[in-house]
This record gives sequence, C-alpha cells and structure tokens, in this order.
Amino acid sequence: MRMTRSFGWIFAGAVAAGLLAGCAELAIRSAPAKQPRASQSDLAQNATRAFWENFYEARYENIPQVQMLLTAAYLEDPNDPRLALLLAHTHLWKVSERARLSPVPPEITDHLILAERYFAEARQLAPDDDRIPGWLGSVKLALGTIHRDERVTREGYFMVKAAAAAYPQFNDFTLSYTLVGQPHDSSRFAEAVAAMWENLDLCFGRRYDRVRPVLEWAPVAALRTDIGRSRVCWNTALVPHNMEGFFLHFGDVLLKNGQKEAAETTYRFIKTVPEYATWHYKPALEERLANLDDWMARLRGADRANDPPYMLNSVIACVACHAR
Ligand code: HEC
Repeated sequence: MRMTRSFGWIFAGAVAAGLLAGCAELAIRSAPAKQPRASQSDLAQNATRAFWENFYEARYENIPQVQMLLTAAYLEDPNDPRLALLLAHTHLWKVSERARLSPVPPEITDHLILAERYFAEARQLAPDDDRIPGWLGSVKLALGTIHRDERVTREGYFMVKAAAAAYPQFNDFTLSYTLVGQPHDSSRFAEAVAAMWENLDLCFGRRYDRVRPVLEWAPVAALRTDIGRSRVCWNTALVPHNMEGFFLHFGDVLLKNGQKEAAETTYRFIKTVPEYATWHYKPALEERLANLDDWMARLRGADRANDPPYMLNSVIACVACHAR
C-alpha cells in the first residue's frame, strides 16, 4: 500500500514535471522574435562614428572608449542590428590584434564570449546578412578550442562552412582565416588553402593554376565593383585595403603549404593593386619577401611558439584591410 502510494506520487510528479517542461518549451518557442529597429539616438551616431574613426586609424588603444560608447548605445537600443554588429566587432578586434599587448592578459579571451553574444544578436536582427554566420561561426570555433569543448568547436566549424557555401566571395576568406593556425599537414589546413583558391577564382572570374598562378592586375581591373555581392572582392570606401590584406593572408597560407614560388607571386601581386601606394603595411610585406625561406620553415615547424607573425597572428589581423 505504502509502496503503491509513493509510486503514485512519483508518477504524478513525473507527469507534472513533463507538463511543465512541455509548457516551458511551448512558452519559449512561441515567444515573439526580437525585431530589428534602427536607433535614431545621438548616442548611437556618436558611438558609430567613434568606432569607424578609430578603426580606420588603427587606434587599438582606444577600444575601451569605443566599447563604452557602443555598449551604452546598444543598451539604449538593443534592437539596432548595426550597433550589435559593431559592438561584436569591437570585441573581435580586441582579441584578434592581442599581439599588440605585452604581456597578453589571460582575460583577453573573454572578449570572444562577448563577441559571440553580440554576433548572435546581430544575426537574429539581420538574418539576411550572409556575412554574419561567418563571423559568428569563427568566434564559436575559437571558443570551442579555448574551452576544449569539441561540440562547440564543431558547431562553429560547420557554421563557417555553411556560411562559405552561402556567400563564398566573402566567407571563403573567413573560413581560410579561421583555419590558418591548423597544422600544415592537417586536412583542416588543406581546407584553408582550397578556400583561398576558390575565393580567388570566383572573384576574378577564371581558374588559376594551383602551382604556378599568373596573377596580373590588368585582366581583372574591369571586374572591379563596389556594389552587389562581389563588392567584397575589391577595395571599397568601406574597406580601403581589402585586397592587400586578402593577398597577404593568401601568401601566408601558400607559404605554410610549402609553396614558396606561388606565395611570392601572391605577395608581389599586392604591389600592383592601385591603392597599394597608400597602404601602411608595406613593411609587413617586405619582411616576408626578404625572409621567404625562414618564414616557410617556421610556419611548417612543429613549435607554434616559433611561428612568424603571419597575418592572423599579428598586430594587423584586422587593420591590414580596414585601416585608411
Ligand atoms: C581580408 C580583408 C579583411 C580582414 C583581414 C578583415 N576584414 Fe572586416 N571586412 C572585410 C570586408 C571585405 C568586409 C565587407 C564589406 C562589405 O560588406 O561591403 C568587412 C566588413 C567588416 C565590418 C563592417 C560590417 C558592416 O557592414 O558594418 C567590420 C566592422 C569589420 N569588417 C571588422 C573587422 C575586424 C574586427 C577584423 C579583424 C578580426 C576584420 N574586419 C578583418 C575585409 C576584411
């Protein structure tokens, strides 16, 4: 009798818990989605201006001030997709160019947690922006790696892969940039190489030889545009040195892949880009060209601590493309 009664209670409890769980799930699933609404505030305008001024001028040291303004503006208007996106990027910039800090504080990794949070907000508010899953996925992959959570790592990896399939002109680069730190003989690194070739072929509308590419500015110059999906292939007012950065990373990838000649070709191509004349990071290119063998050996060596400052691993991880 006693047994039956207590089983009854357990049973009733389980049913109630099940109902509650069902209710909770239903309540959560039927909640209204967060809706985008552009902010009209002066604060938002000032914060946005502060971001771009400091980003274009590569003023990494001003990130705390920019972050303060953008966070304040976001808290006032948490439905503005642009504010969420810029706030995410401020955190990503901070962690990506951490080589500027000495020593690098361990809490730097916390910026990835915040970047993930705000990229997720931005994605919800701007679901048609195919660039965002690339950024969000790469941040997730980094977080999974840091926190040694393989599930999160895979989630991030497949998110970037899907993003690259949806918008290859942009996210093939993101995929390659995300995977450049993998061991040179791994299949993940092979994907970083393949993604750059695919991106190049798509942007320049031809198939390049994978061993001895002939890269010239004149035949592709007429394709240049600053509108539509292919704008991300070129230098634009928004990203003034996109191509210099793209080919600097491409060269780094080829060098790590053991292709010294092809790497040199992509590095040298940078000098033919019209905006090269005003690019601030010519010394980074010259350093590579003067030390191709040394860089290649170090990139392919087992000791990660001996890596040269390849683009993602350097003080110009973001500003190589974005600084004016
Ligand atoms: C290879 C060049 C390159 C690198 C490196 C690069 N970006 Fe970008 N970035 C781009 C391009 C291209 C776009 C897209 C421009 C467009 O949509 O017209 C972009 C877009 C952006 C935007 C604008 C989003 C918007 O539309 O408001 C921000 C902010 C940004 N990147 C931040 C960063 C940060 C932070 C880093 C470093 C982790 C970085 N970028 C690294 C090329 C680059």
